[in-house]
Amino acid sequence: MSNRTGRARARGTQDIESLLQEKRVFKPDAAFAKQANWKRGTLAEYRDLAERSPQRFWAKMAREHVDWFAPWKRVLDWKPPFAKWFVGGKLNVSYNCLDRHLLGEDAWRRNKAAIIWEGEPGETRVITYGQLHREVCKFANVLKELGVRKGDRIALYMPMIPELAIAMLACTRIGAPHSVVFGGFSAEALRDRILDVGATFVVTADGGYRRGKAHALKPAVDEALDGIDAVSHVVIVRRTGQKINFEAGRDLWWHDLMERASADCKPAKLDAEHPLFVLYTSGSTGKPKGILHTTGGYLTYVTVTAKAIFDLKEEDTYWCTADIGWITGHSYVVYGILANGATTFMYEGVPTHPRPDRFWDIIERHQITIFYTAPTAIRTFIRLGEEHPKKHDLSTLRLLGTVGEPINPEAWMWYHRVIGRKRCPIVDTWWQTETGGILITPIPGVVSTKPGSATLPFPGIEPDVFDEEGRSVRPPNGGFLVIKKPWPGMLRGIWGDDARYVEQYWKRYRNVYFAGDGAHRDKQGNFWIMGRIDDVMNISGHRIGTMELESALVSHAKVAEAAVVGRPDEITGTAIVAFVTPVSGANIGGDLRNELREHVSKQIGAIAKPKDIHFTDALPKTRSGKIMRRLLRAIASGDERVGDTSTLEDYSVLARLREAEEG
Ligand code: WTA
Repeated sequence: MSNRTGRARARGTQDIESLLQEKRVFKPDAAFAKQANWKRGTLAEYRDLAERSPQRFWAKMAREHVDWFAPWKRVLDWKPPFAKWFVGGKLNVSYNCLDRHLLGEDAWRRNKAAIIWEGEPGETRVITYGQLHREVCKFANVLKELGVRKGDRIALYMPMIPELAIAMLACTRIGAPHSVVFGGFSAEALRDRILDVGATFVVTADGGYRRGKAHALKPAVDEALDGIDAVSHVVIVRRTGQKINFEAGRDLWWHDLMERASADCKPAKLDAEHPLFVLYTSGSTGKPKGILHTTGGYLTYVTVTAKAIFDLKEEDTYWCTADIGWITGHSYVVYGILANGATTFMYEGVPTHPRPDRFWDIIERHQITIFYTAPTAIRTFIRLGEEHPKKHDLSTLRLLGTVGEPINPEAWMWYHRVIGRKRCPIVDTWWQTETGGILITPIPGVVSTKPGSATLPFPGIEPDVFDEEGRSVRPPNGGFLVIKKPWPGMLRGIWGDDARYVEQYWKRYRNVYFAGDGAHRDKQGNFWIMGRIDDVMNISGHRIGTMELESALVSHAKVAEAAVVGRPDEITGTAIVAFVTPVSGANIGGDLRNELREHVSKQIGAIAKPKDIHFTDALPKTRSGKIMRRLLRAIASGDERVGDTSTLEDYSVLARLREAEEG
């Protein structure tokens, strides 16, 4: 065991070194540059304007990319760390994603595909802008008739089916903020989120298809709502046809309601700062935090970035493989893409079902032109073998993107060579749930790329690398990634917890946004993101807090104490390692390991299951009682050099942990 982790660790270290020494540069392709939405001149002009006056730059973006019912009075009201963008402006997100594509000179888009969807079993649906508009208006009316009012929160717990996008857009139409909960989260996690956001309404499905099976969702909703009276209704989409428990009075079928609903629904004229959605993400302390995004700034930000970074054109078929349950799905499966009138492709299932070439088969059959995925997926495909993509005609692809975690240069090169066939620019996009949209990225056709670097900030974004004292660190030294100016897509707060918002993001450096990532810059100003430096782990591009996991473990009757750390993993980036002290007399061994894994899965979701669980009779602590994570991290990755242990309270703990590891 220690050998295997030792190797993984060595590779991780090598990656960091090779990142530091990466010399390969890919200049923009001339043919791509010629047709790009943003050309060299455009970018230079925008950078110049954004530098002279960020507010004028963002106002220009907002005017050019978004339709407003009423103009704003002030571009920015910045009372650090609280920002209001486009103050006084009125707009509607569903209007911008739908209605405006059916009017005036864009009216031809009525019969253009808005969503092309493929279910895991293989069926396809094409929904035109005209049809999507109709469905969204109908569901908005359903919500209204069931008593949903502007400002009411709606939880969406659904598989990757078009109804999820329809429900989101319907919420925006009437000004009811949605909170999408990833379908892989457990009943417990769903319940926490419903309670925290104060949802009064839930939309779900009987289930969805994953790995060839109908994966049930409704039982988790029933369990989550047990004893919660505030939720008046649950609307259920029939997707799999599996048997469900149906609670009369509360539960309603989507298809019954939609049959009767009128397709005439005026978009609400909402304030630019009206809450658009709350999306939960893990932090380094406590329970997941509800990240709040609002209407005008978010929509402006995702619309302009999608257009520039993905070079969206009318004839593109764009596919982002992220689940809508994550921010990537919100911003770049739904809002940013539909606001541009582009075609978004959605896939329900897993990448390797029924065969390892499912993704490449989809790209060939649907003639995908832009493909946006995560490094962890790329690493999985590398392991599965080149023969799978090579079987397929991928010549429609013209642009590739990655998101979610640092991409190791070798995976980047594979993506470039095997998927892009050396023709496609790659945009490595750095951003977060909190940032709303992409902040650091190459602009394709303009910015030269280097494997492993997210390159340069988007115009108007001012990142820096700081040391502990808040001094800008000179290239090529590393430090903490910060953003020095507010931007329209930034989070507006943590739902119901302003103090935590200030504490998490704005306290370390005064009035400067602290991202929680480590980074360094090279001499050309390119940013190289080194990953999280706080107690948040990035598992396959999904954020999980160590605190969350530890509380889940400790809530098990046989666990007295637990500490969780990450160790490098070739496929998932980071693997979860738990050190557990059982209550005295508990029977440990294989059974308890499985029991704990299941327990975590039930508390949070399958993505949070620890890969390794070590049992120990004590955890290494400092004299003040703090768990020494650095030490546990070293043990978890089989590193012999554990560093300074002078503050370790009980030296023998370390030796015993090592024995447990080797045994
Ligand atoms: C990481 C996902 C390196 C980073 C959009 C960040 C990245 C966290 C990249 C946010 C990238 C995202 N290169 N690291 N291109 N993109 N990250 O909130 O650690 O799920 O802080 O948002 O993912 O994860 P989140």
